[in-house]
Amino acid sequence: MAEDQKNQIDNENKPSTRSGGSSNSNGDRSGSPGASTFGFETILGKLVVDNGLVTPEELSECSALLQDSDGQATGHTLADILVNHEFLTRRQLDRLQTDFDTRKSTQRIQGYRIIRKLGAGAMATVFLAQQESLDRPVAIKVLPKTFSENEDFLLRFYKEGRAAAKLNDANIVQAYDVGQSGEYHYFVMEYVDGTTVHDLIVEKKKLTEQEAMPIIRQVAKALQHAHQRGFIHRDIKPKNIMIAKNGDVKLADLGLARALNDREAAEAEAGRAYGTPYYISPEQIRGKKEITPAADLYGLGATLYHMVTGNVPFPGKNPSDVMHRHLKKKLVPPDHINSTLSPGFSQIIEMMMAKDLSQRYQNATDFIEDLDAVAAGGSPQFAQPTLDFAKLAEVAKSSSAHAPVAQSKGHITLKNSLESWLPTIIVAGAISFLLNLVLLILLIT
Ligand SMILES: Nc1ncnc2c1ncn2[C@@H]1O[C@H](COP(=O)(O)OP(=O)(O)OP(=O)(O)O)[C@@H](O)[C@H]1O
Ligand SMILES: [Mg+2]
Repeated sequence: MAEDQKNQIDNENKPSTRSGGSSNSNGDRSGSPGASTFGFETILGKLVVDNGLVTPEELSECSALLQDSDGQATGHTLADILVNHEFLTRRQLDRLQTDFDTRKSTQRIQGYRIIRKLGAGAMATVFLAQQESLDRPVAIKVLPKTFSENEDFLLRFYKEGRAAAKLNDANIVQAYDVGQSGEYHYFVMEYVDGTTVHDLIVEKKKLTEQEAMPIIRQVAKALQHAHQRGFIHRDIKPKNIMIAKNGDVKLADLGLARALNDREAAEAEAGRAYGTPYYISPEQIRGKKEITPAADLYGLGATLYHMVTGNVPFPGKNPSDVMHRHLKKKLVPPDHINSTLSPGFSQIIEMMMAKDLSQRYQNATDFIEDLDAVAAGGSPQFAQPTLDFAKLAEVAKSSSAHAPVAQSKGHITLKNSLESWLPTIIVAGAISFLLNLVLLILLIT
């Protein structure tokens, strides 16, 4: 997971040239970065090498520049040299500094001994720590300092965190505690030694139906438990689904209050490699006040779609483009991308991702029922074949003989045939009516 940090740092803008210039782009640091970096500066060399930003040879090269040819200190700091010689961008340096500061402050969280950083998301940093009283490993999510200023958020953070600690389910990352250390607020939870579904997609590119099914079923069980107790997750996505080394699947971040509303949070993630709102439901985009369990089933559907097709359902050039597509664009059926998927499984994903709430699964129980039916070789009870009316109209036009059209991948069925036979049935009906009328008239007269 240290890899995470490296990727994140690597993803930030790399310098385009290696020609000097230590201009301060952020304004929050003095002209000499070294001025405010005591402590940080002493381990900066180790940090840049550990993060794979600089090789040990390059570090020696830079360290040599701290002194002039007479062995006198030049007055530059290592940070100055790394930035001036474009081994590091100012943003990368700032991120290293923030991580360092956060870590330093959390060393003091009472009752916990911080071991190492596990990863960082859009909003927070997660550390592995040892809870001293119970002698067990835990994961601690530390919020940025700026969150301390948002009183409304903090109220929700503590309220929801405490409520989440009451949830207890094998498929939910157990929330243990919420607290404050100095200016930092933190959320202590069960440590999951493993990976995430996001890592799995990156590694395998695409999962089979049989591989994806048991993973998603466990998340659905977690949702069933949470929904029945009044919790809606609101941020179901591959990064929030953890897979422990023993194969157990655990839903993370349940009961973790968010500082922004769903749309704001999605927009704030702009520019992050995997933060774009690929899994958000249409009603969350619309800012609907009342979000129901169906929103989580949409997020789970988008996650499942990504797992089995290797593509996010609605790719786009930026977050608003992606969100526009969630609202307006027709979903490409997953079995059109991965033809090994069974029609029933594909129908289930389409139902999970229905834009119209009334067409979607209303709860995880119905979804699990359908999933189990398909796993047992049957057909889903709730998800029905999708009718492609545009295609039907096209076929009807081109079919002059009114012959029944060929079925397309099981998605055009009985109704398809009926529609193409409709003109014939009407004409036959009319003739039969006329004949009966004539017969009646003849009988009367
Ligand atoms: N309970 C946990 N046990 C072990 N590792 C965890 C745990 N929770 C989070 N992590 C690790 O920390 C990383 C950061 O988690 P975080 O929830 O802050 O962000 P995210 O879910 O990855 O992304 P985003 O902030 O975009 O939602 C995760 O990707 C995961 O690798
Ligand atoms: Mg998370």
